[in-house]
Amino acid sequence: MSSLTTERVLHVHHWNDSLFSFRTSRSASLRFRNGHFVMIGLPGENRPLLRAYSIASANYDEHLEFFSIKVPDGPLTSRLQHLLPGDELIVGSKPVGTLVIDDINDGRNLFLLATGTGLAPFLSIIRDPETYERFERVVLVHGVRQVNELAYVDFIERELPQDEFLGELVSAKLLYYPTVTREPFRNQGRLTDLLDSGKLCADLGLPPLDAAHDRAMICGSPAMLADTCKLLDARGFRISPRQGERGDYVIERAFVEK
Ligand code: A2P
Repeated sequence: MSSLTTERVLHVHHWNDSLFSFRTSRSASLRFRNGHFVMIGLPGENRPLLRAYSIASANYDEHLEFFSIKVPDGPLTSRLQHLLPGDELIVGSKPVGTLVIDDINDGRNLFLLATGTGLAPFLSIIRDPETYERFERVVLVHGVRQVNELAYVDFIERELPQDEFLGELVSAKLLYYPTVTREPFRNQGRLTDLLDSGKLCADLGLPPLDAAHDRAMICGSPAMLADTCKLLDARGFRISPRQGERGDYVIERAFVEK
């Protein structure tokens, strides 16, 4: 097993009853690609209780950030949700993952398709200048059940476009499409249905999905991953077969139900 470090919680933000984010210190030796995940956790009875979490901060940030659901009887999240600044968090020293733009073929538009806390790795990817160098448009789609689950709206819509270094690129290239399934909102419906019907592209003023030009990264529940892969496969998109090999789209293979 890879070694573990102990970091310090710097900041905790509760979005609602079921979602929260937290920042920790970052070991100077921790290196990762934007989109990677790392094992994090807390001390357990015999050994640490660890789970895989996508890193939501960028690889150039001094801190680490994570975006988590609160599961009342979840072994780890029931405890994590009570974290306070100053508390310790165990962090693995080997971030890894298949959700990286290196494994995406060149193309025109990059679709980042997330549901729920699947947004986390894309928060890192939309802060990577390379993402904007490689694609003309970066389309961030976030599907949630309720409006109050649309975490990071302010960061995406206001902070990022004003960022000293990235602001210009973000303003020119990033399109954000939040969609809600269980209450009224300006965009409604599952992202799979919105892609399938062509409504998502039409709403954004983009041409219909086309495997020749469009690329995608997907992060969500196992069911969402399965349905989105099916939809893209049916349109001729080729998945990256494994880490280090390019495809028209990538998923986080560690999050696929086995
Ligand atoms: P829905 O409300 O229709 O179930 P969850 O919290 O269950 O992960 O859901 C987060 C969001 O993802 C919800 O908007 C949910 O829609 C949507 N969703 C759930 N399953 C799928 C799927 N198989 N394909 C696309 N979207 C999904």
